[in-house]
Amino acid sequence: MMKELNGLEKQEKAIYGKELNLIKRDIEKLLYTKRAEIEKEELDTKLADEKIDITLTPRPKIAGGIHPLSRTLDELICILANLGFSIEEGPHIENEYNNFSALNIPESHPARQEHDTFYFKSDKRLLRTHTSPVQIRVMNREAPPIRIIAPGATYRCDDDSTHSPMFHQIEGLVVDKEVSMANLKSIIRKLLANFFGEKISIRFRPSYFPFTEPSAEVDIGFSKIDNTLKLGGNSEWLEVLGCGIVNPIVLENCGIDSKKFSGFAFGLGVERFAMLKYGISDLRMFYENDYRWLKHYNFRPAGFPNLLRGK
Ligand code: DAH
Repeated sequence: MMKELNGLEKQEKAIYGKELNLIKRDIEKLLYTKRAEIEKEELDTKLADEKIDITLTPRPKIAGGIHPLSRTLDELICILANLGFSIEEGPHIENEYNNFSALNIPESHPARQEHDTFYFKSDKRLLRTHTSPVQIRVMNREAPPIRIIAPGATYRCDDDSTHSPMFHQIEGLVVDKEVSMANLKSIIRKLLANFFGEKISIRFRPSYFPFTEPSAEVDIGFSKIDNTLKLGGNSEWLEVLGCGIVNPIVLENCGIDSKKFSGFAFGLGVERFAMLKYGISDLRMFYENDYRWLKHYNFRPAGFPNLLRGK
């Protein structure tokens, strides 16, 4: 309509122009109020949406915990580190030589069958059946003195309440001049007393392993009261680790002069240690990730193990 003004006579233009301008101002005024109204409405809904209701109960805080197996590994490593051992690791996929042959377990040896090995189809590689092959790797690489532990996962084709296809071991190895059975016994005693408490009863029982000569198994005494396991005493015994004086054949396999050096070794099952100390009756529970079980058996992350409070 404003554009049409151009075609009008001068007098008409003045009259219509004035009127049109009044209408235009009214429309603009309406638009302005409407816009302000919309903007206010928008702001109000936004404020209402974003309002924090401080009367609501907070979401529960769920703190993570340390798995009892991790905790047990930490404790054992801490104790052994304090006894002067350094930590070594080896691959979970091993060859037959490191896992068996170098450890004096020849192909025909019954110990090979006992290990229920997982072999790879394509070649002769396998999942390590124990942490002992780390001994071989370290001795092949380093000259004595050697004082190492090798913690880690191991694998055997086995599955029941006390066996799992994947479990954990800690291997220990000391090679030096004049290493004796007495040294071995003293280290094992300290390890077990630190982990289970000074009152623990320990028994060394003669045994056989191809890689140690002589060999021993270590039992700890316990009693069963009302179907719960109580550590201490000597009414019943439970095997917790294997150990011995490193067989000279194994030293020679790794190029270490067995006339100059001797060694001792031990291997322990981490799950066993955790089950005994924390009263866990079924090994498979460690891996089932049952939330209720984890909540019951886990540890506070801040409570790091040490020799005084690690127990
Ligand atoms: N490697 C053995 C096993 O898994 C455990 C073991 C026994 C390790 C005696 C050792 C040892 O180093 O001396 O059954």
